[in-house]
Amino acid sequence: MKPLLGTFYLLGMLVPGGLGYDRFPAQHRQEVVDKVVSPWRILENYSYDRYHPMGEIYQWMSQIRENYPEVVTQHFLGMTYESRPMYYLKISQPSNNPKKILWMDCGIHAREWIAPAFCQWFVKEILQNYKDSSRIRRLLKNLDFYVLPVLNIDGYIYTWTTDRLWRKSRSPHDNGTCFGTDLNRNFNASWCSVGASHNCQDLTFCGTGPESEPETKAVSSFIESRKENIACFLTMHSYGQLILLPYGYTENKSSNHEELLQVGQKAANALKAKHGTNYRVGSSADILYATSGSSRDWARDIGIPFSYTFELRDNGTYGFVLPEAQIQATCEETMEAVLSVLDDVYEKYWSASRAGKVTSTAVVLSLLMSFTSLL
Ligand SMILES: *[C@@H]1O[C@H](CO)[C@@H](O)[C@H](O)[C@H]1NC(C)=O
Ligand SMILES: *[C@@H]1O[C@H](CO)[C@@H](O)[C@H](O)[C@H]1NC(C)=O
Ligand SMILES: *[C@@H]1O[C@H](CO)[C@@H](O)[C@H](O)[C@H]1NC(C)=O
Ligand SMILES: *[C@@H]1O[C@H](CO)[C@@H](O)[C@H](O)[C@H]1NC(C)=O
Ligand SMILES: *[C@@H]1O[C@H](CO)[C@@H](O)[C@H](O)[C@H]1NC(C)=O
Ligand SMILES: [Zn+2]
Repeated sequence: MKPLLGTFYLLGMLVPGGLGYDRFPAQHRQEVVDKVVSPWRILENYSYDRYHPMGEIYQWMSQIRENYPEVVTQHFLGMTYESRPMYYLKISQPSNNPKKILWMDCGIHAREWIAPAFCQWFVKEILQNYKDSSRIRRLLKNLDFYVLPVLNIDGYIYTWTTDRLWRKSRSPHDNGTCFGTDLNRNFNASWCSVGASHNCQDLTFCGTGPESEPETKAVSSFIESRKENIACFLTMHSYGQLILLPYGYTENKSSNHEELLQVGQKAANALKAKHGTNYRVGSSADILYATSGSSRDWARDIGIPFSYTFELRDNGTYGFVLPEAQIQATCEETMEAVLSVLDDVYEKYWSASRAGKVTSTAVVLSLLMSFTSLL
């Protein structure tokens, strides 16, 4: 029941010997090519100021890993309900340091097209600049970036073929009489308690249980398996111009709420400095609405310290159908905000003073231990 059948091609034929190729199970190599927005042959000619159908984003991912084999690998995360492979890109500089992880996903809601456009922009910016920009080099010394460009692939394709304003996934419910789960109500954070619906007809249908959807399961299993190392979890949405902190399911605040607020406000200031766009910062319950089962709340609950939802442009003029003419400016300003968050994460974990503290603690500990071992 694929909504779309196009030309088939073998990923393996396009990218012989590409780094990371062996990580794909054979059955995942075949992809559907969608309609073409703007043909490009080489990565330099990819248009980052256009919206791209899923087939082009798959091809873009292959080209990215082919062009930057020294820093990028592509990894299989899981399959969508309609059996499409989900891949994330890992940007990582070789290092002996134990590193932390930035997780960023885009496109959990199908119609929020600016989000996948930003994930692609982010990857491009990092790769084009990591050699020359000391700021990015510094971040990559201690952080690996994991980017999932389109989380809700089935829904995203459906917005291209059938219904531009589709939000949910495409799993069938109630004997195939209704379709789609809101994947951002399907995480295991006070699941379906508030701001979510048990009725599949609704936009905020929470699914049949926490992590009932394969897309949610794929992301949550992966995040869970790396949670000790993930310093920062960013999930990109539109629209509303908001930086949202936990929580949505309660008005209670997370233990590091003040810090999250400060880091978020600083990011909003950096964003505004670029093109003058105003953002508001606060917990979802405080400044947007109550929601349960969101990935942001879940990530914070399993112990990831910096967890944010970004609601990108605009503020209601075009809503989900943000014109392509605004992609570049939106991505430029959002890049400033994300880098600001990452700078703060960096300062928290690796600033000179903290490194000093860690070292002296380690020295004291080892002294203590050498005494203990004498007893
Ligand atoms: C890339 O774009 C440039 C400028 O539009 C064009 O001249 C060139 O032929 C393109 N290259 C390829 C390989 O498509
Ligand atoms: C689904 O269809 C089956 C067989 O027709 C029926 O027994 C069942 O009650 C239906 N379930 C729902 C939720 O409609
Ligand atoms: C959801 O979390 C609760 C406790 O927080 C746990 O008992 C339960 O097993 C989790 N469910 C899933 C599907 O992971
Ligand atoms: C909010 O905090 C109160 C007081 O600590 C606690 O009793 C309550 O269970 C919390 N609510 C949620 C939804 O976590
Ligand atoms: C968005 O628009 C509303 C209504 O025009 C306005 O009240 C609000 O301040 C705007 N928000 C931002 C962040 O510009
Ligand atoms: Zn959304």
